[in-house]
Amino acid sequence: MTDETSPFDPDALRERALDALTTARARTALLTTCVDEPDLVAQHSPLMSPLVWDLAHIGNQEELWLLRTVAGRAAMRPEIDGLYDAFEHPRAERPSLPLLPPDEARRYAAEVRGRALDVLESTPLQGRRLTEAGFAFGMIAQHEQQHDETMLITHQLRKGPQVLTAPDPAPAPAYSGPAEVLVPGGPFTMGTSTEPWALDNERPAHQRAVPAFHIDTTPVTNAAYQAFIEDGGYDDARWWTPEGWDHVRAHGLRAPLFWRREGAQWLRRRFGVTEVVPPDEPVLHVCWYEADAYARWAGRRLPTEAEWEKAARHDPETGRSRRYPWGDADPTPEHANLGQRHLRPAPAGSYPAGESPLGARQLMGDVWEWTASDLLPYPGFTAFPYKEYSEVFFGPEYKVLRGGSFAVDPVACRGTFRNWDYPVRRQIFSGFRTARDA
Ligand SMILES: [Fe+2]
Repeated sequence: MTDETSPFDPDALRERALDALTTARARTALLTTCVDEPDLVAQHSPLMSPLVWDLAHIGNQEELWLLRTVAGRAAMRPEIDGLYDAFEHPRAERPSLPLLPPDEARRYAAEVRGRALDVLESTPLQGRRLTEAGFAFGMIAQHEQQHDETMLITHQLRKGPQVLTAPDPAPAPAYSGPAEVLVPGGPFTMGTSTEPWALDNERPAHQRAVPAFHIDTTPVTNAAYQAFIEDGGYDDARWWTPEGWDHVRAHGLRAPLFWRREGAQWLRRRFGVTEVVPPDEPVLHVCWYEADAYARWAGRRLPTEAEWEKAARHDPETGRSRRYPWGDADPTPEHANLGQRHLRPAPAGSYPAGESPLGARQLMGDVWEWTASDLLPYPGFTAFPYKEYSEVFFGPEYKVLRGGSFAVDPVACRGTFRNWDYPVRRQIFSGFRTARDA
């Protein structure tokens, strides 16, 4: 029915799971040891949890799925489950809960991890859907990495001096290729039924008809976005949806989050450092309304989710859908800006080795890309392993983002991966590219 190929050697999955869990924990440790104790328990924004909540929540989810559900063990600390249930307590409430202090949270997460690695060693990775091809272990590694991204957002929102550093991406020569690529019309395979660690909302693979369209070769840059600002984009109702217009009026939005004007220059704050906005970098920290308004101003539109995935995965030569724009191989540092190796997007046009068959660049990594689409289930969707993973979010409230950002680890990023958020969200590492009908 589909024309995907099975990507993994089953024997390597245990090794892969161990590696993914270890990488995630190293990142968690870095993000929670670079600040002191008062900083860990403080709430830096009502939009975010205190970092110490994320830390114990990571351990608690791992215990729940790998120790209790996979291995059938008894709860280690049943009294804390409620505190770390994301659905029981909204983020704004979390600082007032009797959370585990940092040392205890670290000890708890480490103890869970020690036992989880024993479970990984002794669990057959076939015969049971939850552990088939190591799924539960991959799911937990992705969960931890998603919280590592959330914690990096908390770091970006945090006031105070710089505590995180990373090398800049290699400077790229200014991109001089075509501004857009043509994606031919016709059906393609969207979603996946074979990717072992794909989550329920990415499944199943299905045929989707997409008429021909053009899509930007790279994400929209700061320079291009500044032209929209200078042209009075934020003051012109023509470019905005009614909801978007109400939103920018009510909140006085004039530029991306973290930007401020000084004289003729735009400055931005990035992880505690104020710097001139780099013109050739993909724009970051814009909400869906801003992305949508920019596209209309430019005489274009946001791509649909199906268009985005077709641009990223469809190989017109073979007719099959790739795992990634560059092929089926896992991401390396040559393909994409992923994994918090850099704490910023790379200049537009970077990563030629990661380009799609049709020549679009930076579809993976750098910035999450807003699409025109609401988060909806694929035909044949079934919730797995729990409804709260995706199903409760389906509907018109959330817009889909694709492709991952510099803050996303490769384990939680692939051509089929779907992220979603409210159209007003800007603290996330979000940008966009535009499209038009052919
Ligand atoms: Fe979570």
